[in-house]
Amino acid sequence: MRVFVTGASGWIGSAVTDELLAHDHEVVGLARSDEAAAALVAKGAKAHHGSLDDPESLAAAAKHSDAVIHLAFKHDFDDYAASGHTEHTAVQRMLDVLEGSDHPFLLASGLASGITGRPLTEDDPAPFHGADSMRGGSENLALEYADRGVRSVALRFAPTVHGMRDHGFTSRLTQVARERGAAGYVGDGSTRWAAVHRSDAAQMVRLALELAPAGARVHAVGEEGIASRDIAAAIGDFLGVPAASVAPDDVESHFGWIGRFFGMDITASSARTRELLGWTPTGPTLFEDIAAGAYALGG
Ligand SMILES: NC(=O)c1ccc[n+]([C@@H]2O[C@H](COP(=O)([O-])OP(=O)(O)OC[C@H]3O[C@@H](n4cnc5c(N)ncnc54)[C@H](OP(=O)(O)O)[C@@H]3O)[C@@H](O)[C@H]2O)c1
Repeated sequence: MRVFVTGASGWIGSAVTDELLAHDHEVVGLARSDEAAAALVAKGAKAHHGSLDDPESLAAAAKHSDAVIHLAFKHDFDDYAASGHTEHTAVQRMLDVLEGSDHPFLLASGLASGITGRPLTEDDPAPFHGADSMRGGSENLALEYADRGVRSVALRFAPTVHGMRDHGFTSRLTQVARERGAAGYVGDGSTRWAAVHRSDAAQMVRLALELAPAGARVHAVGEEGIASRDIAAAIGDFLGVPAASVAPDDVESHFGWIGRFFGMDITASSARTRELLGWTPTGPTLFEDIAAGAYALGG
Protein backbone atom coordinates (compact mmCIF):
# COMPACT_ATOMS: atom_id res chain seq x y z
CA MET A 1 0.00 0.00 0.00
CA ARG A 2 1.06 3.59 -0.55
CA VAL A 3 0.79 4.95 2.99
CA PHE A 4 0.83 8.61 3.98
CA VAL A 5 2.45 8.77 7.42
CA THR A 6 2.25 12.01 9.39
CA GLY A 7 4.83 12.25 12.17
CA ALA A 8 7.10 10.00 10.11
CA SER A 9 10.15 11.82 11.53
CA GLY A 10 9.04 11.26 15.15
CA TRP A 11 9.84 8.65 17.78
CA ILE A 12 7.07 6.22 16.84
CA GLY A 13 6.67 7.37 13.24
CA SER A 14 10.28 6.68 12.26
CA ALA A 15 9.97 3.11 13.59
CA VAL A 16 6.62 2.70 11.82
CA THR A 17 8.18 3.94 8.58
CA ASP A 18 10.99 1.38 8.88
CA GLU A 19 8.48 -1.37 9.67
CA LEU A 20 6.29 -0.50 6.67
CA LEU A 21 9.23 -0.29 4.27
CA ALA A 22 10.49 -3.67 5.52
CA HIS A 23 7.10 -5.15 4.65
CA ASP A 24 6.90 -3.83 1.10
CA HIS A 25 4.68 -0.84 1.69
CA GLU A 26 5.42 2.50 0.09
CA VAL A 27 5.73 5.37 2.57
CA VAL A 28 5.05 9.03 1.90
CA GLY A 29 6.06 10.82 5.08
CA LEU A 30 4.92 14.28 6.12
CA ALA A 31 7.94 16.54 6.51
CA ARG A 32 7.89 20.11 7.75
CA SER A 33 11.63 20.65 7.27
CA ASP A 34 14.19 19.84 4.61
CA GLU A 35 16.10 17.84 7.21
CA ALA A 36 13.12 15.59 7.92
CA ALA A 37 12.48 15.18 4.20
CA ALA A 38 16.10 14.19 3.54
CA ALA A 39 16.02 11.60 6.34
CA LEU A 40 12.89 10.05 4.85
CA VAL A 41 14.34 9.89 1.36
CA ALA A 42 17.59 8.38 2.71
CA LYS A 43 15.66 5.42 4.10
CA GLY A 44 13.69 4.79 0.92
CA ALA A 45 10.51 6.73 1.67
CA LYS A 46 9.11 9.76 -0.14
CA ALA A 47 8.60 13.11 1.54
CA HIS A 48 5.51 15.29 1.37
CA HIS A 49 6.15 18.84 2.53
CA GLY A 50 3.39 20.14 4.76
CA SER A 51 2.32 20.90 8.29
CA LEU A 52 -0.41 20.25 10.82
CA ASP A 53 -1.09 23.97 10.57
CA ASP A 54 -1.85 23.58 6.88
CA PRO A 55 -4.72 21.05 6.72
CA GLU A 56 -4.91 21.34 2.92
CA SER A 57 -1.37 19.94 2.67
CA LEU A 58 -2.54 16.91 4.66
CA ALA A 59 -5.71 16.48 2.62
CA ALA A 60 -3.78 16.52 -0.66
CA ALA A 61 -1.46 13.72 0.45
CA ALA A 62 -4.28 11.71 2.03
CA LYS A 63 -6.24 11.87 -1.22
CA HIS A 64 -3.37 10.43 -3.25
CA SER A 65 -2.59 7.53 -0.90
CA ASP A 66 -4.10 4.11 -0.24
CA ALA A 67 -3.97 4.64 3.52
CA VAL A 68 -3.13 7.23 6.17
CA ILE A 69 -1.34 6.69 9.48
CA HIS A 70 -1.63 9.91 11.47
CA LEU A 71 1.05 10.16 14.16
CA ALA A 72 2.02 13.83 14.10
CA PHE A 73 0.99 15.83 17.13
CA LYS A 74 1.97 19.18 18.64
CA HIS A 75 3.33 18.18 22.04
CA ASP A 76 2.92 21.63 23.54
CA PHE A 77 1.94 20.77 27.11
CA ASP A 78 1.84 24.45 28.05
CA ASP A 79 -1.03 24.96 25.61
CA TYR A 80 -2.53 21.52 25.30
CA ALA A 81 -5.94 22.96 24.32
CA ALA A 82 -4.43 24.57 21.21
CA SER A 83 -2.76 21.26 20.32
CA GLY A 84 -6.16 19.61 20.57
CA HIS A 85 -7.75 22.17 18.27
CA THR A 86 -5.02 21.72 15.66
CA GLU A 87 -5.44 17.97 15.90
CA HIS A 88 -9.21 18.15 15.48
CA THR A 89 -8.96 20.33 12.37
CA ALA A 90 -6.24 18.21 10.78
CA VAL A 91 -8.10 14.95 11.39
CA GLN A 92 -11.39 16.39 10.17
CA ARG A 93 -9.83 17.60 6.92
CA MET A 94 -8.22 14.24 6.16
CA LEU A 95 -11.46 12.40 6.94
CA ASP A 96 -13.33 14.74 4.58
CA VAL A 97 -11.27 13.59 1.61
CA LEU A 98 -11.25 9.93 2.63
CA GLU A 99 -15.02 9.64 3.09
CA GLY A 100 -16.43 6.91 0.84
CA SER A 101 -12.98 5.62 -0.19
CA ASP A 102 -12.90 2.59 2.16
CA HIS A 103 -9.25 3.46 2.75
CA PRO A 104 -7.65 2.88 6.16
CA PHE A 105 -7.18 5.89 8.44
CA LEU A 106 -5.21 5.01 11.56
CA LEU A 107 -4.63 7.69 14.15
CA ALA A 108 -2.57 7.91 17.30
CA SER A 109 -4.47 8.16 20.52
CA GLY A 110 -3.83 7.43 24.17
CA LEU A 111 -5.16 5.34 27.02
CA ALA A 112 -6.21 8.07 29.46
CA SER A 113 -9.89 7.42 30.07
CA GLY A 114 -10.71 8.22 33.67
CA ILE A 115 -11.58 4.56 34.23
CA THR A 116 -10.10 3.33 37.50
CA GLY A 117 -10.12 -0.02 39.27
CA ARG A 118 -9.71 -2.09 36.12
CA PRO A 119 -7.64 -1.96 32.95
CA LEU A 120 -9.11 -0.12 29.96
CA THR A 121 -10.11 -2.52 27.18
CA GLU A 122 -10.53 -2.07 23.46
CA ASP A 123 -14.30 -2.10 23.97
CA ASP A 124 -14.23 1.02 26.16
CA PRO A 125 -14.95 4.14 24.12
CA ALA A 126 -12.86 7.23 24.77
CA PRO A 127 -14.77 9.82 26.85
CA PHE A 128 -13.53 12.76 24.76
CA HIS A 129 -15.80 14.43 22.22
CA GLY A 130 -15.33 17.66 20.32
CA ALA A 131 -12.50 20.05 19.53
CA ASP A 132 -12.29 21.37 23.10
CA SER A 133 -11.69 17.95 24.66
CA MET A 134 -8.45 16.01 25.12
CA ARG A 135 -6.59 15.56 21.80
CA GLY A 136 -9.47 17.40 20.15
CA GLY A 137 -11.73 14.39 20.58
CA SER A 138 -9.99 13.04 17.48
CA GLU A 139 -10.39 9.35 18.32
CA ASN A 140 -14.18 9.51 18.40
CA LEU A 141 -14.20 11.87 15.43
CA ALA A 142 -12.28 9.33 13.35
CA LEU A 143 -14.29 6.33 14.51
CA GLU A 144 -17.53 8.07 13.51
CA TYR A 145 -16.32 7.69 9.91
CA ALA A 146 -16.29 3.89 10.18
CA ASP A 147 -19.89 4.10 8.93
CA ARG A 148 -19.00 6.62 6.27
CA GLY A 149 -16.65 4.65 4.08
CA VAL A 150 -13.40 5.04 6.03
CA ARG A 151 -11.61 2.11 7.67
CA SER A 152 -10.76 4.20 10.70
CA VAL A 153 -8.76 2.60 13.50
CA ALA A 154 -7.66 4.10 16.83
CA LEU A 155 -4.06 3.32 17.78
CA ARG A 156 -4.02 3.70 21.54
CA PHE A 157 -0.42 3.92 22.69
CA ALA A 158 0.69 3.24 26.25
CA PRO A 159 1.87 6.44 28.00
CA THR A 160 5.43 5.25 27.74
CA VAL A 161 6.51 3.92 24.35
CA HIS A 162 10.05 3.24 25.48
CA GLY A 163 13.40 2.36 23.97
CA MET A 164 16.90 3.65 23.39
CA ARG A 165 16.97 7.46 22.85
CA ASP A 166 13.28 7.85 23.80
CA HIS A 167 12.55 11.53 24.47
CA GLY A 168 9.00 11.00 25.79
CA PHE A 169 7.42 10.82 29.23
CA THR A 170 9.95 8.49 30.90
CA SER A 171 12.73 10.66 29.58
CA ARG A 172 11.12 13.73 31.14
CA LEU A 173 10.70 11.91 34.48
CA THR A 174 14.38 10.96 34.41
CA GLN A 175 15.37 14.54 33.68
CA VAL A 176 13.29 15.80 36.63
CA ALA A 177 14.83 13.13 38.91
CA ARG A 178 18.31 14.22 37.89
CA GLU A 179 17.50 17.88 38.53
CA ARG A 180 15.83 17.21 41.90
CA GLY A 181 18.31 14.60 43.16
CA ALA A 182 15.42 12.25 43.87
CA ALA A 183 13.12 10.14 41.69
CA GLY A 184 9.65 11.31 42.63
CA TYR A 185 6.31 9.57 42.54
CA VAL A 186 2.92 11.00 43.45
CA GLY A 187 1.47 10.21 46.89
CA ASP A 188 1.76 6.51 47.70
CA GLY A 189 2.85 5.74 44.15
CA SER A 190 0.08 3.25 43.55
CA THR A 191 -1.07 4.78 40.24
CA ARG A 192 0.15 2.80 37.26
CA TRP A 193 1.24 3.26 33.68
CA ALA A 194 0.97 0.77 30.86
CA ALA A 195 4.11 0.46 28.73
CA VAL A 196 5.25 -0.86 25.36
CA HIS A 197 8.57 -1.08 23.56
CA ARG A 198 8.82 1.06 20.42
CA SER A 199 9.56 -1.92 18.14
CA ASP A 200 6.44 -3.73 19.35
CA ALA A 201 4.34 -0.60 18.91
CA ALA A 202 5.58 -0.19 15.33
CA GLN A 203 4.78 -3.80 14.51
CA MET A 204 1.30 -3.42 15.98
CA VAL A 205 0.66 -0.35 13.81
CA ARG A 206 1.66 -2.23 10.66
CA LEU A 207 -0.53 -5.21 11.57
CA ALA A 208 -3.46 -2.88 12.31
CA LEU A 209 -2.99 -1.27 8.89
CA GLU A 210 -3.17 -4.68 7.25
CA LEU A 211 -5.80 -6.39 9.40
CA ALA A 212 -7.89 -4.19 11.69
CA PRO A 213 -11.54 -3.64 10.69
CA ALA A 214 -13.27 -0.26 10.50
CA GLY A 215 -14.03 1.14 13.94
CA ALA A 216 -11.41 -0.92 15.80
CA ARG A 217 -9.53 0.37 18.80
CA VAL A 218 -6.19 -1.37 19.26
CA HIS A 219 -3.92 -1.16 22.29
CA ALA A 220 -0.16 -0.85 21.94
CA VAL A 221 0.40 -2.28 25.40
CA GLY A 222 3.15 -4.73 26.32
CA GLU A 223 2.92 -4.28 30.10
CA GLU A 224 -0.53 -3.66 31.54
CA GLY A 225 0.35 -1.45 34.47
CA ILE A 226 3.55 -0.62 36.36
CA ALA A 227 3.20 1.19 39.69
CA SER A 228 4.60 4.73 39.58
CA ARG A 229 6.63 4.10 42.78
CA ASP A 230 8.32 1.17 40.97
CA ILE A 231 9.03 3.33 37.90
CA ALA A 232 10.55 5.95 40.21
CA ALA A 233 12.62 3.27 41.98
CA ALA A 234 13.97 1.99 38.65
CA ILE A 235 14.92 5.52 37.56
CA GLY A 236 16.44 6.20 40.99
CA ASP A 237 18.50 2.99 40.85
CA PHE A 238 19.86 3.95 37.46
CA LEU A 239 20.73 7.51 38.50
CA GLY A 240 21.93 6.58 41.98
CA VAL A 241 19.33 8.81 43.70
CA PRO A 242 16.58 7.80 46.13
CA ALA A 243 12.94 7.40 45.19
CA ALA A 244 10.69 9.79 47.13
CA SER A 245 6.99 10.50 47.52
CA VAL A 246 5.75 13.91 46.35
CA ALA A 247 2.63 15.23 48.06
CA PRO A 248 -0.28 15.81 45.64
CA ASP A 249 -0.20 19.57 46.40
CA ASP A 250 3.45 19.77 45.32
CA VAL A 251 3.12 17.85 42.07
CA GLU A 252 3.06 20.87 39.76
CA SER A 253 6.05 22.58 41.38
CA HIS A 254 8.08 19.36 41.61
CA PHE A 255 7.41 17.75 38.25
CA GLY A 256 6.07 20.55 36.03
CA TRP A 257 3.70 19.38 33.26
CA ILE A 258 4.69 15.72 33.47
CA GLY A 259 3.25 15.50 37.00
CA ARG A 260 -0.26 15.78 35.56
CA PHE A 261 0.29 12.56 33.65
CA PHE A 262 2.45 10.70 36.19
CA GLY A 263 -0.32 10.99 38.78
CA MET A 264 -2.87 9.37 36.45
CA ASP A 265 -3.77 5.70 36.65
CA ILE A 266 -3.40 4.61 33.02
CA THR A 267 -3.59 0.85 32.84
CA ALA A 268 -4.89 -1.15 29.90
CA SER A 269 -5.23 -4.64 28.54
CA SER A 270 -4.17 -5.62 25.02
CA ALA A 271 -5.71 -9.11 25.06
CA ARG A 272 -8.15 -8.33 22.23
CA THR A 273 -5.51 -6.57 20.14
CA ARG A 274 -3.20 -9.58 20.45
CA GLU A 275 -6.00 -11.89 19.37
CA LEU A 276 -7.22 -9.65 16.53
CA LEU A 277 -3.82 -9.01 15.02
CA GLY A 278 -1.87 -12.11 16.08
CA TRP A 279 0.49 -9.66 17.82
CA THR A 280 2.87 -10.71 20.57
CA PRO A 281 5.13 -8.03 22.08
CA THR A 282 8.68 -9.33 22.42
CA GLY A 283 10.77 -6.20 23.06
CA PRO A 284 12.51 -5.25 26.32
CA THR A 285 10.42 -4.22 29.32
CA LEU A 286 10.47 -0.65 30.63
CA PHE A 287 12.76 -1.65 33.51
CA GLU A 288 15.13 -3.46 31.15
CA ASP A 289 15.37 -0.32 29.02
CA ILE A 290 15.93 1.95 32.04
CA ALA A 291 18.64 -0.35 33.41
CA ALA A 292 20.27 -0.59 29.97
CA GLY A 293 20.70 3.20 29.83
CA ALA A 294 17.86 4.15 27.48
CA TYR A 295 17.44 7.33 29.55
CA ALA A 296 21.11 8.00 30.25
CA LEU A 297 20.86 11.37 28.55
CA GLY A 298 17.73 12.30 30.45
CA GLY A 299 15.74 13.74 27.55
N1 LIG B 1 5.74 8.29 22.64
C1 LIG B 1 4.79 7.94 23.48
O1 LIG B 1 5.12 7.37 24.54
C2 LIG B 1 3.33 8.16 23.17
C3 LIG B 1 2.38 7.71 24.08
C4 LIG B 1 1.02 7.90 23.80
C5 LIG B 1 0.64 8.54 22.63
N2 LIG B 1 1.60 8.98 21.76
C6 LIG B 1 1.16 9.66 20.53
O2 LIG B 1 1.71 8.99 19.41
C7 LIG B 1 2.00 9.95 18.38
C8 LIG B 1 3.47 9.86 18.00
O3 LIG B 1 4.22 10.17 19.18
P1 LIG B 1 5.81 10.32 19.14
O4 LIG B 1 6.30 9.93 20.49
O5 LIG B 1 6.37 9.64 17.94
O6 LIG B 1 5.96 11.89 18.97
P2 LIG B 1 7.24 12.75 18.59
O7 LIG B 1 8.49 11.95 18.62
O8 LIG B 1 7.19 13.99 19.40
O9 LIG B 1 6.97 13.11 17.06
C9 LIG B 1 5.98 14.03 16.73
C10 LIG B 1 5.91 14.10 15.22
O10 LIG B 1 4.95 15.10 14.89
C11 LIG B 1 5.56 16.02 13.99
N3 LIG B 1 4.98 17.35 14.18
C12 LIG B 1 4.88 18.07 15.32
N4 LIG B 1 4.32 19.27 15.07
C13 LIG B 1 4.06 19.28 13.73
C14 LIG B 1 3.49 20.24 12.86
N5 LIG B 1 3.08 21.44 13.30
N6 LIG B 1 3.37 19.90 11.55
C15 LIG B 1 3.81 18.71 11.09
N7 LIG B 1 4.36 17.77 11.87
C16 LIG B 1 4.48 18.06 13.17
C17 LIG B 1 7.02 16.01 14.34
O11 LIG B 1 7.76 16.53 13.26
P3 LIG B 1 9.27 17.09 13.44
O12 LIG B 1 10.16 15.88 13.37
O13 LIG B 1 9.44 18.02 12.32
O14 LIG B 1 9.34 17.77 14.80
C18 LIG B 1 7.23 14.52 14.56
O15 LIG B 1 7.37 13.85 13.34
C19 LIG B 1 1.58 11.30 18.94
O16 LIG B 1 0.25 11.56 18.57
C20 LIG B 1 1.68 11.09 20.43
O17 LIG B 1 0.90 11.98 21.18
C21 LIG B 1 2.92 8.80 22.00
